[in-house]
Amino acid sequence: MGNEMVFELNEPLDMHLHLRDADMLKLVGPLTSKTFSGALIMPNLVPPVTTKEALLAYKERIKEACKDDNFEPFVTLFFKNDYSYEFLEDIKNDIIGIKLYPAGITTNSETGVSSMNVENLRPTLESMSKLGIPLCIHGETNGFVMDREKEFMPIYESLAVAFPDLKIIMEHITTKEAIELLDKYDNLYATVTLHHLLITLDDVAGGMLAPHLFCKPIAKRPEDRTALLNAALKAHPKLMFGSDSAPHPKHKKECCGCAAGVFTSPIALQVLVELFEKHNCLDKLNAFVSTNAKKIYDLNLTNKTIKLIKKDFVVPAIYEYKNENVVPMYAGETISWSIESIN
Ligand code: NCD
Ligand code: ZN
Repeated sequence: MGNEMVFELNEPLDMHLHLRDADMLKLVGPLTSKTFSGALIMPNLVPPVTTKEALLAYKERIKEACKDDNFEPFVTLFFKNDYSYEFLEDIKNDIIGIKLYPAGITTNSETGVSSMNVENLRPTLESMSKLGIPLCIHGETNGFVMDREKEFMPIYESLAVAFPDLKIIMEHITTKEAIELLDKYDNLYATVTLHHLLITLDDVAGGMLAPHLFCKPIAKRPEDRTALLNAALKAHPKLMFGSDSAPHPKHKKECCGCAAGVFTSPIALQVLVELFEKHNCLDKLNAFVSTNAKKIYDLNLTNKTIKLIKKDFVVPAIYEYKNENVVPMYAGETISWSIESIN
């Protein structure tokens, strides 16, 4: 007693989050809103969020699901290459950015863009650039699964060059090549997940298959993980925490044809503290989970302080609400930090 180790985080932000809808939203929403000040919410619903009506209604449903907490949902629009300037000008103040998916690359992205050719994207990107709307990209090609992100690097480069005033965020980066690109173009930024700082493909498929660690982009090689971790541990100013927590019901993960997505919301902050403590970099964690994103997206948030304590936390085997359920990363395992209080 008395000499417990504690650590405080101020206004933690999750800059890449899937909250889904209906009962799943009611289940997972509070698991983020309790401990985070805000989150950038992905638009890959069925159907995807492409109109102002759908966007505002979704934001209201999120606020309702998270109403017990001091939490700001930053919603995004699903990219289409034919949004008019007038439409974007009108919706600009309701969104934090627009998320671009190559068609069919991941969950609910069938109506994404069919060609990443700059000319194909130009109409919408020119308007976004003029209006100052950031572009978030799922950067993978249709190539061999381990090479998809690396093969996408020239596309990021061509976009960064063609639209120098457009803020481009490389979402959930998983490779050392993406880290290298970050320093090459002023207008390129990135998010990185918790699980990609921790696991490699070995953890997914090196032994018994681990469906709850299967996600897009797939976890890569040890040298990739090292590059990501080094950038996160020094709180590289162009890198933000984005969990990509992507809940799927248990029966869609533990089956033939496992859905992609790792559910990390309820353990994210505790495990981040554990990881940064292990590497003696706790002094950088607040920048990585909060101030970097505040600067990049120019965010103002009300005060919220999360106090964590070095005390064992047994991760629940499953989270349930009505007919929905989801298995978290580290289900049933013990992690060494817990949430102590939230103010
Ligand atoms: C995400 C999902 O399930 O919506 N899945 C994932 O594996 N990360 C989509 C995504 O971000 O690719
Ligand atoms: Zn995602």
